[in-house]
Amino acid sequence: AHHYNAYHIIPLNFDTVRELPETHAWPPLDKDNDVSLSSFSSSGDGHDHQVKVPVIDLSSDDAREMVGRGCETWGTFQVINHGVPLKVLESMESQCRLLFSLPTHEKMKALRPPDGASGYGLPRISCFHSKLMWIEGFTIMGGSSSLLQLAPKLFPHNYTTFCEVVEEYNEEMRKLAERLLPLMMDSLGIPTDRLPWHWPTPTTTTTETNSTTYTALQLNSYPPCPDPNRAMGIAPHTDTSLFTILQQTQPSTGLQVLRDGVGWAPVPPVSEALVVNIGDLFHILSNGRFPSALHRAVVDRTHHRYSVGYFYGPPIDINIFPLLDPPRYRSSRGWWQGSRFGQWRGGGAVDLYRERSCGSGQ
Ligand code: SIN
Ligand code: FE2
Repeated sequence: AHHYNAYHIIPLNFDTVRELPETHAWPPLDKDNDVSLSSFSSSGDGHDHQVKVPVIDLSSDDAREMVGRGCETWGTFQVINHGVPLKVLESMESQCRLLFSLPTHEKMKALRPPDGASGYGLPRISCFHSKLMWIEGFTIMGGSSSLLQLAPKLFPHNYTTFCEVVEEYNEEMRKLAERLLPLMMDSLGIPTDRLPWHWPTPTTTTTETNSTTYTALQLNSYPPCPDPNRAMGIAPHTDTSLFTILQQTQPSTGLQVLRDGVGWAPVPPVSEALVVNIGDLFHILSNGRFPSALHRAVVDRTHHRYSVGYFYGPPIDINIFPLLDPPRYRSSRGWWQGSRFGQWRGGGAVDLYRERSCGSGQ
């Protein structure tokens, strides 16, 4: 089958499309043999938490325990009372609306170059699929140089607001990430000083060196779609990060997470909540105790949905290996290499590094 190169395909001009093109027509979602959670009623045996992605109040006394349980059972949870000011989330949402409403030829000026990480384009995982996804996005790598290169191409007349909003957002997300990571480590029973890099990394570096934490921001737009049952917002994948913090707009549901033996569970937008997804690197660090969440996004006929992902990872040259015994994964020997050459997708990283004796045939 023909597969797409994410760097060479130009996103569809969604405004002008009235019918789902064949290039974007996936097998119908209602036939993709997943057990829909909506038809999955509570069994009344006290296991309701198994069918609903947990919403955790970070200011509550049992936050650490709940976070641990969310990581272990789902690899996904939502957080409220997370400390990120509502104003910061709202500003980012309005910048997204502004950005994606630019005409296609303006967005194209920021097209992600073949050898680059930042810019406009299709999801990186596009090259693993023979159909295109109903999405367009901007990737902005952490550190101010990517932002300063991108913003003037998009908003030549006034890019200060956009830059300020993105920088404040990054800063708030970093604070939240640095609050979540110790909770996660604590529930694994591992002190943060056993992390294989200096944690937390200094934030005052102005030059991007290999010893700073890897972060990236991904702005996504899912326009209304004439045939949502046959379109795919973003195909199933796991994130190449320690974990990802995701903001999604109201009111439309789009994000779904696969729960083994149950099916695709919707992650409905909750007012002011942020979604946390465990990524492949934490999966490996935790020796599989915290599984990376296989997730996808579906689209809607009437609502235009936006989401913003903040990817939080270790410095790019760091080796990632299990911190629990006996190790079920090999050291990733510079995790960035694996992701860079596209081996990591849809659980690929985890399979790639599984120990032979643990039987994945890798
Ligand atoms: C993603 O996982 O890349 C995006 C998910 C979303 O839009 O909810
Ligand atoms: Fe993702």
